[in-house]
Amino acid sequence: MATRTQSRQSDRTTSSRSSSRSGSSGGGSDQRSAFSWSENSGPIIGAALAGAAIGFAANYGRKFLMQGLEAQAGDWDEILAAEHDMALAVFDKMLATDETQTFKRNMLLMKLTHALDKHSHAEEMVVYPALREANEAGDADHLESEHGYIKTFIYELNEMGPEARNWLEKVREFRALVAEHAHMEEEEVFPRFKQDLGGEQNARITSLVNRDGFWMS
Ligand SMILES: [Fe+2]
Ligand SMILES: [Fe+2]
Repeated sequence: MATRTQSRQSDRTTSSRSSSRSGSSGGGSDQRSAFSWSENSGPIIGAALAGAAIGFAANYGRKFLMQGLEAQAGDWDEILAAEHDMALAVFDKMLATDETQTFKRNMLLMKLTHALDKHSHAEEMVVYPALREANEAGDADHLESEHGYIKTFIYELNEMGPEARNWLEKVREFRALVAEHAHMEEEEVFPRFKQDLGGEQNARITSLVNRDGFWMS
């Protein structure tokens, strides 16, 4: 941060110096136009873009690292099962709060929302379409409609706020839906689908799930 500010300041010095060199009517080398920096703002914009590029690279470095970690997690169904466990663990932390811990409740809800969003995106963009292709449209449609109710719970929790008296009750209901949904995926739908997948198709779905998770993280 400090270095970005420093480089911006030094660029500004450079630009006002160069503007006086290219001053309009000859002589007035001391004359500095108030607009000169915008005429020569290339270096400033350059520095800002460089800063943005560093931020961009850092973010994508993190993403590649995350993707690397996910890629080690195994097949697509194992990745998704691990995400179910992670979401359920967040629910348990939520259920361990009381109504005075409003900040913590909000933070946990945000974390859960992001985790479920990323997770359901991979299922809706990759796994459920693959299920439909394998003549499992009934299961895919059922599971996808449950994602809608998962979003509804998030909406309701946000609307009621962390201090609401029935917050824990709502979270408990929400957890039950996610646990049941995850159970159906892990114990019924995914194993049945995976059984008939060839090695290549299985690897393809794993790669697509990893790729989707990469863009969503
Ligand atoms: Fe799902
Ligand atoms: Fe799932």
